Amino acid sequence: MARRLTSTEILAELGSEDDGLLKRSIGPWTLEKLAVLLLYIRGFADACKRVGGVYVDGLAGPGLCETGGAQVERRVVMGSPLIALTTPELEHCYLLEKKEPEKAALERRAEAFGGRATVLKGDVNRDLPRLIGAAVEPWRPCFCLLDPEAAELHWATISAIASTPRTKNKPELLILFPLRMSIVRQFPTTDVLKPAVRLRHNRTFGNELWESIYESRLSGELEPPDANRKYLALYKKGLEELGYAYVISKPILAPRTAKRGRQELYHLVFATDDETGYKIMSDVFKRHYDVGLISGGQMELPI
Ligand SMILES: C[S@@+](CC[C@H](N)C(=O)[O-])C[C@H]1O[C@@H](n2cnc3c(N)ncnc32)[C@H](O)[C@@H]1O
Repeated sequence: MARRLTSTEILAELGSEDDGLLKRSIGPWTLEKLAVLLLYIRGFADACKRVGGVYVDGLAGPGLCETGGAQVERRVVMGSPLIALTTPELEHCYLLEKKEPEKAALERRAEAFGGRATVLKGDVNRDLPRLIGAAVEPWRPCFCLLDPEAAELHWATISAIASTPRTKNKPELLILFPLRMSIVRQFPTTDVLKPAVRLRHNRTFGNELWESIYESRLSGELEPPDANRKYLALYKKGLEELGYAYVISKPILAPRTAKRGRQELYHLVFATDDETGYKIMSDVFKRHYDVGLISGGQMELPI
């Protein structure tokens, strides 16, 4: 069994030269998400190297990211598409991005990987399920990253991906569930829910069951942490109802500030039918990461 990488080693592995093309600005906590992806995707690629696994990124970004700001060391690191492309055991990587500048930068970066990369301009909700159905051979293990900034990802897309005809397992999903970062922020604490907000949440969850949690929170019956636990549980239950055998999650925390302790920003939610995949990700999720701390993001002892 391979030795576990330390956080310093993970950070070094994520590091990249600055090629001068468009980069995505990230906070130091994003390094933890990238560390999770790096460790998992290597385990996934290795576990299915005999048949060749496929990587699909529905909201790919430009390929490289950059940390910065007043207290954070400037660091150029690989984003999710480059993490996948630099994992040679992966048979192919399909990378979908909606915005032209991001897609153009990614296309340039993917050139070095020749025929292993397909970069496409498109919309995750409109195009991704069809792409997976048409391009990924049904017998190949398929890992799909869905990493939205806010509420771009619709439940109907997740459901359609899960029902792609496959020989054996459904595509594995790693989803960024933007609970505090986006969903909770859109709940008014006094006013009535606007129809557009209700529609957005219905699209995210795929049903209206979130509304009773919101009402219990509004009436004071639920405290914010309890309401947040219930929103997450509702989302995970939806994945179980799509038939996934294993659904697990990991919170990603914001740095401590002068006024507040560390708070959950979002959750990484993983769904798979494969027991080996479940075991690898359980291990990756349980690990403690200091990657943001090393980058100067959190001047405190890790919790
Ligand atoms: C959080 S970023 C992805 C970061 C990437 N995973 C990484 O590690 O570098 C989300 C990306 O999705 C793109 N995007 C937003 N809406 C989209 C949509 N509907 N379909 C496809 N891409 C979209 C944004 O332009 C942005 O580049």
